[in-house]
Amino acid sequence: MKITVVGAGAVGASCAEYIAIKNFASEVVLIDIKEGFAEGKAMDLMQTASLLGFDSKITGTTGDYSKTAGSDIAVITSGIPRKPGMTREELIGINAGIVKSVAESLIKHSPNVIIIVVSNPMDTMAYLVHKATNIPKNRIIGMGGALDSARFKYRLAEALGCPQSDVDGMVIGGHSDTGMVPLIEKAVRNSVPVSEYLSAEKQAWVVEETKVGGATLTKLLGTSAWYAPGAAVTALCQAIALDSKKMFPCSALVEGEYGLKGLAIGVPCIIGRNGIEKIVEIKLSAAEKAKLEESAKGVHEVNNLLDASVAK
Ligand code: 2OP
Repeated sequence: MKITVVGAGAVGASCAEYIAIKNFASEVVLIDIKEGFAEGKAMDLMQTASLLGFDSKITGTTGDYSKTAGSDIAVITSGIPRKPGMTREELIGINAGIVKSVAESLIKHSPNVIIIVVSNPMDTMAYLVHKATNIPKNRIIGMGGALDSARFKYRLAEALGCPQSDVDGMVIGGHSDTGMVPLIEKAVRNSVPVSEYLSAEKQAWVVEETKVGGATLTKLLGTSAWYAPGAAVTALCQAIALDSKKMFPCSALVEGEYGLKGLAIGVPCIIGRNGIEKIVEIKLSAAEKAKLEESAKGVHEVNNLLDASVAK
């Protein structure tokens, strides 16, 4: 399996690092526009191989997409990250141009590639990749829900005072501070609803902290996070590589599922060798459904900004 990671910044480098350590890809190509940067990161990572025990070969290139040819998966992390106080939506103008040209270059050299979109605003960038490339919708995966669900589990475990391996939960909806829908009613600790352990206030705290998970880190770090985004991408790549049919909430193009259409938004997806192999329509409560619809409205608004800026 050959995986290209576009953007050798903190997120891209974390993706390459975790993918290599997990040892399921024969080849990882890092590509960046900054002269020598991807080559340097790739060389540094390769010098960890004998220490960490992986056989994946990592190479770097400055903007030469011919080196990405024949990729099975490509991860788009390029664009500018959030600064403290910024929303993901504010990045739209700059990142749209970058993501569009990256997606086109990737497809040119790897016509069958599965694209994982990380760049923000992530749902709108996934929608943009759909529009720009016109490749089958199963081959475009927005990463947000996998990351947001990991942050949800972190906060659930913190509130419950238990290891994360005890908890399960999922975040659907848009990958934005206001759009995320952490499914707290369905969250469990070892099959038992968390409402049996946590007060309504504590549950509300978990939901709020999950929704601002990225913003909290941006405030602390001065830029957006990279370890958990890299790990979320790696989990998706591994599910594709192993054809595991694992369920992740991902930003997928919906065509009537959950009563939504014409946008990419976080919904539960089965991930396997063909990318998004199925969107799973779980039963939502009336409150969850209303929140998902509200979230979709927000994503549509950002998509409209994109359409307006492209039309200009
Ligand atoms: C985050 O939430 C990068 O959007 C990403 O950290």
